[in-house]
Amino acid sequence: MYVLGIETSCDETAAALLEKTPQGGFKILSEVVSSQWKAHQPYGGVVPELASREHLDNLPLVVNNVIEDSNIKLEQLGAIGVTRGPGLKGCLLVGYEFAKAISVSRKIPLLGVNHIEGHVLGVMLDNPTLTFPYLCLVVSGGHTEILEVKDVGSVSLMARTIDDAAGETFDKSANLLGFPYPGGAKLAALADDYSSSEFSLPRVMRKSAGFSFSGLKTAISLLVEKHREAMVVDVDLRGRMAFAIQEAIVDALIFKLSQAIKESRATKVAITGGVSANRRLRELVQNINGVKVYFPTLDHCMDNAAMIAYVAAKRVERKEKTDYNTTVISRWPIESV
Ligand code: KG4
Ligand code: ZN
Repeated sequence: MYVLGIETSCDETAAALLEKTPQGGFKILSEVVSSQWKAHQPYGGVVPELASREHLDNLPLVVNNVIEDSNIKLEQLGAIGVTRGPGLKGCLLVGYEFAKAISVSRKIPLLGVNHIEGHVLGVMLDNPTLTFPYLCLVVSGGHTEILEVKDVGSVSLMARTIDDAAGETFDKSANLLGFPYPGGAKLAALADDYSSSEFSLPRVMRKSAGFSFSGLKTAISLLVEKHREAMVVDVDLRGRMAFAIQEAIVDALIFKLSQAIKESRATKVAITGGVSANRRLRELVQNINGVKVYFPTLDHCMDNAAMIAYVAAKRVERKEKTDYNTTVISRWPIESV
């Protein structure tokens, strides 16, 4: 069976063509991710209206690209999976209605997919040996949560951020240090060049169950402001601050993940979302409570459509499909799927 995946929830326009082989395995025939970061960079963050219009321009080309590249015809598709939420409403609508149109015109089943479920189950696509149940830390620009993943459609929440997401904290700190948007990965790359720092940032929320990054963000902002002038003279100062910032964010993630592992007695952990590409996080998590840790491939840490196609394929196996009288859901907690 062939499944087309479409992802337009934020600022990446993505499509993928996935084949479920007769042996029950999965093969990505083609995938494209077209990032809009250049369009949003002058504004220092994603501009929703601009993002929707970029999706309108790019989506037909991106979908056409993966169809042609995989050498299959639309008629051969067994399903179309499309991100239904959570995300920016206008952006989601572009992808959802586009998918619906192909589905109606070619009589192909439509599957509206939760974006976070894409990150959570998509790890299995890259790691065929990973089996249920497992604990999943989703860390992206918009989400930071720890989930118990028992099966397709059976996910419960253990911890979630009560304010900012870890990726957002990376990006906003990067912006303070003078990196253009999206600066999270650039801050991380600079931090990796250093092995110590005279700065120590607060280790927040040790006792409560959820994550919180707003206090840390304020502390980072005060630290950078205090040293703004000195940064001009001392060329290494920015790097030592980046090191301290990365350590504080990664420490918060490791601490809460370790707590959740103890509480759930999990033996397998998956880490997904843009921040799961972080080298320091990958290094420190290896020593965590003796569990086996799984990551997506580096290109699948970020938003992509292969993960959406994979969830759709899994839901087709369960004879599910989404009605045409449905629409997007911009706030859609994973545990309610
Ligand atoms: O999953 P994703 O592509 O989009 C969302 O759904 O948000 O994640 C993007 C986030 C951004 O905040 C970006 O700064 C962060 O992932 N990110 C990183 C790294 N690479 C991407 N954060 C820390 N270290 C990295 N290497
Ligand atoms: Zn995402």
